[in-house]
Amino acid sequence: MIKRTLLGSLLLAAALGAAAQQPIYQDPTQPLEKRVDDALSRMTTAEKIAVIHAQSKFCSAGVPRLGIPELWMTDGPHGIRPEVLWDEWDQAGWSNDSCTAFPALTCLAATWNPDMSTLYGRSIGEEARYRGKDVLLGPGVNIYRTPLGGRNFEYMGEDPYLSSRMVVPYIQGVQQNGVAACVKHFALNNQEAYRNQYNAQLDDRALYEIYLPAFHAAVTEGHAWAIMPAYNLYERQHLAENKRLLNDILRGEWKFDGVAISDWGAVHNTPRTVTQGVDMEFGTATDGLRAGAKNAYDSYYLAQPYLKLIQEGVFSTKELDEKVRRVLRLGFRTAMNYAKPMGSMNSPEHSAAARRIGDEGIVLLKNDGNLLPLNLENHPNILVVGENAIKMMTVGGGSSSLKARYEISPLEGLKQRIGTQGQVSYVRGYVGDVGGSYNGVHSGQDLSDSRTPEQLQAEAVEAATKADYVIFVGGLNKADHQDCEGTDRLSLALPYGQDKLISALAKANHHLVVVNISGNAVAMPWVKEVPAIMQGWYLGSETGHALADVLTGDVNPSGHLPFTFPQSLNDVGAHRLGEYPGRATELERMKQPGHQGDTLDVRYNEGIFVGYRFADKERITPLFPFGHGLSYTTFVFSRPTVSQSTMTADGSLTVRLTVTNTGQRTGEEVVQLYISDKKSALPRPIKELKGFRKVRLDPGKSQEVSFTIDRTALSYFDDQAHQWVAEPGDFEALVGASAADIRGKVKFALQ
Ligand code: BGC
Repeated sequence: MIKRTLLGSLLLAAALGAAAQQPIYQDPTQPLEKRVDDALSRMTTAEKIAVIHAQSKFCSAGVPRLGIPELWMTDGPHGIRPEVLWDEWDQAGWSNDSCTAFPALTCLAATWNPDMSTLYGRSIGEEARYRGKDVLLGPGVNIYRTPLGGRNFEYMGEDPYLSSRMVVPYIQGVQQNGVAACVKHFALNNQEAYRNQYNAQLDDRALYEIYLPAFHAAVTEGHAWAIMPAYNLYERQHLAENKRLLNDILRGEWKFDGVAISDWGAVHNTPRTVTQGVDMEFGTATDGLRAGAKNAYDSYYLAQPYLKLIQEGVFSTKELDEKVRRVLRLGFRTAMNYAKPMGSMNSPEHSAAARRIGDEGIVLLKNDGNLLPLNLENHPNILVVGENAIKMMTVGGGSSSLKARYEISPLEGLKQRIGTQGQVSYVRGYVGDVGGSYNGVHSGQDLSDSRTPEQLQAEAVEAATKADYVIFVGGLNKADHQDCEGTDRLSLALPYGQDKLISALAKANHHLVVVNISGNAVAMPWVKEVPAIMQGWYLGSETGHALADVLTGDVNPSGHLPFTFPQSLNDVGAHRLGEYPGRATELERMKQPGHQGDTLDVRYNEGIFVGYRFADKERITPLFPFGHGLSYTTFVFSRPTVSQSTMTADGSLTVRLTVTNTGQRTGEEVVQLYISDKKSALPRPIKELKGFRKVRLDPGKSQEVSFTIDRTALSYFDDQAHQWVAEPGDFEALVGASAADIRGKVKFALQ
């Protein structure tokens, strides 16, 4: 007994001794800032420089001498990108780096369900964690300004309120795993054309009311640990070196304590980046290991050139210390968070999550005569037409391209679901993009086809005459000038002659369903000819399962559009009033020799009138409005009421209504609250989304839905006073099922 006590004391003394020797920065019980200061105080200037820039395509150095690990980044935002070589974009060729591909963020936004964001963030965060990543390069929350935007599919739509509510849970879900979310592309990445050169010109109202709120929510509510500035310019400064956005707004007004990570190759100048730019520099044009010094990581703007300026006395280490502090903080939150979970990869739970998010995001746009859901008992003979029914969509589109462990195509999903209940046959109908590789990942599909468009169409029409239903699966894809990073679309129209084919199919068979696969609105000149239309997004690994779920009615459609489908580009503010992709004379000038590298000013003349705000103002009837989405059941809204008719300046008020499922099936409805300011000193949109709730109801059941709002829901940004203002006076609360389907209104006043 005595012996054991003695041994115990000796062990305790040894442990205490060890604890006494353990530096503060290694002690997880110490406050974060103390650990950061301690680690910083032990680092040499060269070590500090080493941690603020890349040492490979996707990782930055640690401090081996102090046991501080490297930081590993990954794209983002729809799945974990496969491994590339240390120093090149070619695949590393791992056999264990395939992932679960989740639906594109446009689809997530279309769920209008923040619980789906939590599920998404948690699941993708687990995959990132399992693969040893510290930073997930996503989510993206740039506002949908034009339907031609090549990266809209990676973002969350046109409305600042919807994208704010959806981005916060995604970030929280990711970061629970000890993986940082890196919100991108801060801010004003609203086009891919001239993405390194265009200078967004807009007033502060548009900046604060439309383009910044989702980033603001990500930082101040989601507490994102990292952010990635965009490639383009604002106030004629690249966003990676932008004083206003990074120093004044992000770090100043929003008190961001995380790391601003440059987009790959987005830094252009050392002194500006030192004083007002990103904290870490990553790059695209690097061949350091192969080509020696020229493009090596040591030559990065935040590497030797910066060290030299310090050595020459141009800069002290003040700015460097601040950047390193942020990088260390990121490290303690991620790589050096030793309590973080293990994560998991390709689990059945992740497949189920991808399917559920897809199920909830698919939008039923039109359903004349209740053509859907498919009635297999009476009409078992299904013909599927269209390239997108068979094409793998997880490969392509730019940096969000994935190596999915599996991808169920729409055709495969329908075949699996329908099984022996019917027959599913397929004809191609048209040939679009036969490519299928990105960055050395190949889809493995050979989609080449030597038949002429006429032959393909004739064959499809012939088959259509014999089918009970025709399901056309078309739309865009991830090739250049479709939905793809680096290029914008060239028109609103569907490519590859699909319009002609759809019209011909509609004549051949009245049971035609069009499933549009895209991350953008497309023109539908045949809209009146086709009874049922579904927006299918890019749904990732579970594409075919999710589409079959909704087409057959196993799942009731409950997605709603996160952006307006315009009838034509002239109905979009950026095209009618604003400039896109820039002013014609300036675009012309840039074609002249010596001017290719010029900065291109793009004036956002439409200001705050983006999406439905523009349609409302100009009294435009869109093809399908923002917030639109049908269901296989029906819902009735009661008249809304307010808890009191007057709101005090610092009080709140509750809008209430009852929703009843009056149809035959269980289903979800998205109840949307818009606020309208009846009179104001500055022009305001006719209405703005300020609340939404997705409710699930059995047939015949009712539920009360309430929204409590305060002055923030009534405010506009006064750019002269540089503050949010809620003007006393009359307001109206509008409740509806889309921006164009307002079911009830109630007035109130702000004191
Ligand atoms: C994209 C980023 C991406 C990065 C790394 C850039 O081209 O704009 O969104 O995270 O590459 O792949």
